[in-house]
Amino acid sequence: MTALPEWNSLAPVKLLNLDHVGIAVNDLDQAIEGYRSRYGVEPVYREKVEAQGVEEAMIAVGGSFVQLLQPLGAETPVGRFLSKRGEGLHHVAYAVSSIEAALDHLKSQGARLVDSEPRRGGRGAQIAFVHPADLTGTLIELVELSDA
Ligand code: CO
Repeated sequence: MTALPEWNSLAPVKLLNLDHVGIAVNDLDQAIEGYRSRYGVEPVYREKVEAQGVEEAMIAVGGSFVQLLQPLGAETPVGRFLSKRGEGLHHVAYAVSSIEAALDHLKSQGARLVDSEPRRGGRGAQIAFVHPADLTGTLIELVELSDA
């Protein structure tokens, strides 16, 4: 058996954890009730994040979360996503040790960023999005938690 490379130590972008997967939903109450009845889980918190145009609910699953996202209006990023694609997986979020270092590294790699500077997300975290066209068609969110 080949030893696993210590790949996480090679880059200044240290992915610490799969923080959450974001799922766009039409009706947050209905989505929460669905998770409650199907899987027996409850949100650990719920929050309106005006800066992102969403109300979100976070459901803990092991060391990660499912983030249910309902748009605050049709003309928000998640609102436009829903009208174009319907409900479903919206983004994958990785926890990083330093969002500034991660963004510097991505810029040096010529990555296509949605946010060139960190902004505020839920839980008081600093977040930044990387465009889905940058890598594998997946919208990636980087998260630096305030207590990380
Ligand atoms: Co998110």
